[in-house]
Amino acid sequence: MVFMKKILLMGFFAVLLVTIPAIWVTATSSDVFLPGITVDDTAPNGCVDCHTNKGDGQDYRLNISLAKEGHVKIDSIVKTLPTDCMLCHKEGSEAKALSTRVHEAHYDEGDESHFVTYYQGSCLQCHSLDTTTWEMSVKSGPKNW
Ligand code: HEC
Ligand code: HEC
Ligand code: HEC
Repeated sequence: MVFMKKILLMGFFAVLLVTIPAIWVTATSSDVFLPGITVDDTAPNGCVDCHTNKGDGQDYRLNISLAKEGHVKIDSIVKTLPTDCMLCHKEGSEAKALSTRVHEAHYDEGDESHFVTYYQGSCLQCHSLDTTTWEMSVKSGPKNW
C-alpha cells in the first residue's frame, strides 16, 4: 500500500513538473508586448523616460549623448522632446526628417540594439495609440536637463 502511494505521489509530481512550465509558457507567450494596450506603458513621455541619467557615468540624456557624437548643442533650443528636434529635423533638410534619424538610431543594429533586446523594440515605446479615436501620435515630454 505504502509503495502504491509513493508511486501515485511520484506520478502526481511528474504531472505537475510538466504542466506548470507548460502553463507558464502559454501565459508568457500570450503576453504580447504592446505598451499601453496589453502591458503598462513604462515610457508615457517617450524619449525622456528612457534617455535619463542612470548614474555611475551612464548618462543617457539626449543632450549629453548627442553632443558626444559631435551633434550641434541642443541644450537651450530644445525644450520639449521630440517636438523641438523638428525645428531642424524637417523633411528634405540637411539634418534629415526626425523619423528617419530616430528610427535608424533604434533599429539599424537589429538584434544588437539595446532598444530591441531590452525594451522589446516596440513602436509603442515612442508612439501612442488613442484607444477611442485609434489615432497614432508621438509621445512627448519636457527636457530632463
Ligand atoms: C523605451 C526606451 C526608449 C525610448 C522611449 C526612446 N529611446 Fe532612444 N534609445 C534607447 C536605447 C536603449 C538606445 C540605444 C540603442 C542601441 O543599443 O543601439 C537608444 C538610442 C538612441 C539614440 C542614439 C544615440 C544614443 O543616445 O545612444 C538616439 C539619438 C535616440 N535614442 C533618440 C531618441 C528619441 C528622440 C526618442 C523619442 C522620440 C527616443 N530615443 C526614445 C531607448 C529608448
Ligand atoms: C539646431 C538644429 C538641430 C536640432 C535642434 C536637433 N538636431 Fe539633430 N542634427 C542636426 C543636423 C544639422 C544634423 C546632421 C549633422 C551631420 O550630418 O553631420 C543632425 C543629425 C542628427 C542625428 C544623426 C547624427 C548624429 O549626430 O547622431 C541624430 C540621431 C539627431 N540629429 C537627433 C536629434 C534629436 C533626437 C534632436 C532633439 C532632441 C535633435 N537631433 C535636434 C541639427 C539639429
Ligand atoms: C524611438 C522612438 C520611435 C520608435 C521606436 C518608433 N518611432 Fe516612428 N516616429 C518616431 C518619431 C520621433 C517620428 C517623427 C514624428 C513626426 O514627424 O511628427 C516618427 C514618425 C513615424 C511615422 C510618420 C513619419 C514617417 O516616417 O512616415 C510613422 C508612420 C512611424 N513613425 C511608424 C513607426 C513604426 C511602424 C514603428 C515600429 C516599427 C515606429 N514608428 C517606431 C519615433 C519612433
